[in-house]
Amino acid sequence: MRWTLTSFLALLVLSCSLWQSACASVLAIDYGSDWIKASLMKPGVPFDVLLNKDSKRKIQSSVAWKKDDRLFGGDAANIAARFPTDSFSSLKYLQGVPYDSKAPAFFATISQAELHETARGTIGVTRSDGTQWAAEELIAMQLGYVKALAEALAGEPVHDAVLAVPPFYTQFERDAVADALAIAGLRTLALVNDGTAVAVNYAMTRAFAAPEYHVIYDAGASATRATVVRLESTLDPQSKAPVTQIEVKGVGYDRNTGGTELDRRLHEVLVDAFIAKHKRDVRTDKRGMAKLWKEAGRVKTILSANSEAVATVESAAFDLDFKAKVTRAQFEKACADLKGGFVQPIWDALAQADLTLDNITSVILTGGSSRTPMVQAAVRAAVGEDLIAQNVNADEAAVLGAALYGASLSRQFKTKDIRVSDISMHDIQVSYFSSPPSDAAPTPRTISSVLFPAGSKLGSKKTLTFRRGEDFSLWLDYTKVISPGFPRELFEARVEGVAEALGTLAERGAVDPVVKVTVALSESGFVAVKEAVAYGEIKEESLTGKLKSLFGVGTSSTEEEVDSQTPSTTDETAAESSPVATTPPKKEKKVSAKDLEELSTIALNVKTVFSSLPPYTVEEKKASRERLRSIDAQEAAKVMREEALNTLETYLYRLRDNLDDGAQSPFQKCSTAVERKAIAEKLAETREWLNDGGESAETTELWQKRHALEALERPITYRYTEIQEFPATLNSSQKWNWATRVFLTDARANMTADAAAGVPSKWTAEELDGLEEALKEHEVWLNEGVEKQKRTGMNENPAIATAEMKARAGRLEQHLQRLVKRKAPKPPKKAKGKNGKSKESGEEPEGTERRKGHDEL
Ligand SMILES: *[C@@H]1O[C@H](CO)[C@@H](O)[C@H](O)[C@H]1NC(C)=O
Ligand SMILES: *[C@@H]1O[C@H](CO)[C@@H](O)[C@H](O)[C@H]1NC(C)=O
Ligand SMILES: *[C@@H]1O[C@H](CO)[C@@H](O)[C@H](O)[C@H]1NC(C)=O
Repeated sequence: MRWTLTSFLALLVLSCSLWQSACASVLAIDYGSDWIKASLMKPGVPFDVLLNKDSKRKIQSSVAWKKDDRLFGGDAANIAARFPTDSFSSLKYLQGVPYDSKAPAFFATISQAELHETARGTIGVTRSDGTQWAAEELIAMQLGYVKALAEALAGEPVHDAVLAVPPFYTQFERDAVADALAIAGLRTLALVNDGTAVAVNYAMTRAFAAPEYHVIYDAGASATRATVVRLESTLDPQSKAPVTQIEVKGVGYDRNTGGTELDRRLHEVLVDAFIAKHKRDVRTDKRGMAKLWKEAGRVKTILSANSEAVATVESAAFDLDFKAKVTRAQFEKACADLKGGFVQPIWDALAQADLTLDNITSVILTGGSSRTPMVQAAVRAAVGEDLIAQNVNADEAAVLGAALYGASLSRQFKTKDIRVSDISMHDIQVSYFSSPPSDAAPTPRTISSVLFPAGSKLGSKKTLTFRRGEDFSLWLDYTKVISPGFPRELFEARVEGVAEALGTLAERGAVDPVVKVTVALSESGFVAVKEAVAYGEIKEESLTGKLKSLFGVGTSSTEEEVDSQTPSTTDETAAESSPVATTPPKKEKKVSAKDLEELSTIALNVKTVFSSLPPYTVEEKKASRERLRSIDAQEAAKVMREEALNTLETYLYRLRDNLDDGAQSPFQKCSTAVERKAIAEKLAETREWLNDGGESAETTELWQKRHALEALERPITYRYTEIQEFPATLNSSQKWNWATRVFLTDARANMTADAAAGVPSKWTAEELDGLEEALKEHEVWLNEGVEKQKRTGMNENPAIATAEMKARAGRLEQHLQRLVKRKAPKPPKKAKGKNGKSKESGEEPEGTERRKGHDEL
């Protein structure tokens, strides 16, 4: 049976809502160079793309400052022409990238932002006021903005995030993504390659009778990639439950070909046209360049559907208007050399998968640039019209797929069982010295071998075995420079405490001890040294006498699971431990194989040292997080102050109007001349205060000013609301009087009848008298109050408050209800035996209840 999307979504929501408390929300984000898309997985919230405050399904990847106001999304991008050095877009180009690369030079051609090198050797921006931000911090602000949107929807804090990233991202870039998430206050649940995420979304609603291969083609803003996936529906070998296998077989990419490059070429066309026409170099004018950049984006969109477009920018630069006709042919000529870059990833991905187009069921197009006619044409020509998947909305597929992937990881959502197997893109090698340097061989040989060749399965581990007597290091590196300016070096892992551990093992009688180091390539694509141990097999016979006698239960090593995705934390969690026997000697204790294995293994400390482009340290992350928090707090305080000022001003206007109203207005009728004079004076005083700089006063002071006026107005409002509420309240009070009177008459009649018939009655005479007393008291109080009220003017405080009327009527009502609800006593029964006490005991509770009822009066 084919799953329909709706039935699947319904199941998803339903199955989790059964144990909601255990379900935490998962936020999925597709952070693109141009657009951010996000999706929230939360029980009870329909699974969909997150909407921004304007109900848009995607948010422009921009952050900007308009003087002191920080803006996001379209608001931020739109002010680039006015504040070219305070509006930041396309920051994905700078994520985790060394300053010493071609990125800054390229970025200068697409943005007017002022770049600098950060202390970590990465790229930061300098605002017009001189404040500096690392690219990761600016990205974190945007992630924080998305987090706030998600939290508003979820109605609770959101902590866990899954990010879709390009498959070719290096460890440096993956670190930068995780760092930005941490700075935004989010935990990295996983990074998922974007092509893989699209495949997850595609497979979620389909079944595959036979294995199928598909190409996910993604022409994004900053890069183009193709992912070949194998999709198959099978049964779990054990449980026989249906499982969908998603296996990435090959990936091809071009980091320099994408939509932004097309924009850049078109921008160049406009810049050249401007220079040709006006003989002035617009390149020297930041605002002008930013205006033409915006126009290039608009013209590109027009050229997608038309063969020509007119670029027009009023006062583009030097007070000169710009107008030029651009044809699609002209645009395509400027981009002619990019065609190959758009198509080659498909061939590369197929080659890595060892497949041809004959094996492919469909090519799924995604990414904004795959809609550009030139790119469409190139891809269609390459793969053939028939292979292009129709009716697949892949635009939001990456973020939805990432959310589904996150849901499958968190195991809290019951989704279709999908098993994802992804691969790495870059060869990773391990290097170490052949042996420790000695006098005989002062320069040891460096041995390098490829540990995880490109195409290695993510989530795999390799264990290396060394014969070493002393501490030593491993170096994990890429075998080649992945992008110009990027370092090859990832990190050094220092294995510490070797000599001591080996000594301990020798004491235990271990033979031939070695050091084993486990290197892992995580599901999120991070390489890390997970664990190092000294190991020497201990045969029972070889246990030395002393150890044997000491040895008992409770000797276990305290190795901890190293769980973080990034190697930066390995040093914190890999605990050094040497088992120490603490239990008293137990001579006859038999040593189990498991105990022996534990005794044979001693965990070593691994210290990770970053040499080239380090991820943020814990302290750096904390500092950046604080920095972001403090502007968030400042902005919140500012919003609050503005609100307080607005409320005060609005209130002053309303009071003014009230004072100016005619004599018949409620305000005038309910106030005295003295009161109005006091308010008028206070109002004038507050107005004056506002004009004399009060407008910039603190929030609390603004509140105080309003409260002072409200205190003067309150008696008037009170009188008015009392007058409004009085008739209905009186009606209600009288209603209870009437109901009580009717009840008493009725009940007394019944009592008389009961007495005549010789049956017990529901009430005692005292109870009914008590109620009548309460009724009379209430009637007297009410009548007196009403009489006084008649003589009270509208601008005087009421003689009788509705709150008290309600309270008194309520008490009477309760009293009445207690008697109305009284159950009829059971008619006297014949004693069933025993000693004839059943009648008495049968009445006992009744009597108790009655007394209790009285006591409450
Ligand atoms: C790919 O197609 C070729 C030619 O049709 C075929 O021989 C081969 O078995 C196919 N490979 C797979 C993995 O299906
Ligand atoms: C008082 O109650 C009666 C009956 O419930 C209703 O018809 C009448 O409009 C009420 N009067 C006021 C002033 O609420
Ligand atoms: C009085 O008795 C009649 C007839 O049994 C009954 O309908 C009515 O509810 C009783 N009145 C009260 C106040 O219990």
